[in-house]
Amino acid sequence: DLPTTFDRPVHIAVIGGTGLYKLDGFTPIARVNPETPWGVPSAPILILEHGGVPVAFLARHGVNHEHTPHEIPARANIAALRHIGVRSIVAFSAVGSLQEEIKPQDFVVPDQVIDRTKGIRPFTFFEHGLVGHIPFGDPYDAKLAAVVKKCAAGMGLTLHEKGTAICMEGPQFSTRAESNLYRSWGGSVISMSLLPEAKLAREAEIALQVICMATDYDCWRNTGEDVDVAMVMKTMQANGENARRLVGSVLDELCKEENRDVVLAKHYEGASKGAVLFC
Ligand code: ADE
Repeated sequence: DLPTTFDRPVHIAVIGGTGLYKLDGFTPIARVNPETPWGVPSAPILILEHGGVPVAFLARHGVNHEHTPHEIPARANIAALRHIGVRSIVAFSAVGSLQEEIKPQDFVVPDQVIDRTKGIRPFTFFEHGLVGHIPFGDPYDAKLAAVVKKCAAGMGLTLHEKGTAICMEGPQFSTRAESNLYRSWGGSVISMSLLPEAKLAREAEIALQVICMATDYDCWRNTGEDVDVAMVMKTMQANGENARRLVGSVLDELCKEENRDVVLAKHYEGASKGAVLFC
């Protein structure tokens, strides 16, 4: 029913994770499904309009959660978003908490990430003779992070303003020994799907900030209540409305003219000579 083409550039995108498969309060105006050299994205990209500004929404795990974390076509996702004009991504992810003070239903805006994926997932655009090494000391975008923190203030949520995320391979959850190891490394939260998305976005010169919502305490606490899928889904359902409100408010803010420079992420331009691929 919706048009399958859209002829204006879309600069802002939301990548929705577990439990965030759509956005309320935004008017769908198109649904596009660009074929990239790395295949099609996880799901068709929904173009929504907000005060005249188009915003893209992509369900990371697919519309019906059909992609397990290591099978998410992350390169197609980032390439497709870049292809339609995206320069800023607000990603959302359900995560396990590795710290007592990060309680289920709390939000976390990580500023660091530790890669514990195993190299099974395709993780770069630079290969087959295209050589490039992007800086990744600060994996997330401080300007987008500032917008998220500003929006969360006064919303009645608990939001931790920084933290180190661990991205593990999965799909099995961690052993207790692994969970404790990650705690000893200073990990705040754990996920299976934050990477390679953030690395690929930087390679494509796109600003990205992930908003995490803790759904469980993983398994380090020895309370007899280890994480399982039912626990993740239950917390997501209980707090999904807050997740949608927070993401909605961040989009409101990013759509404002005064945030145009943040959105266009000029500070990454030239960071990756491989961006020539996406033009
Ligand atoms: N996603 C949500 N909870 C998680 C956990 N405990 N470990 C890994 N990924 C998760």
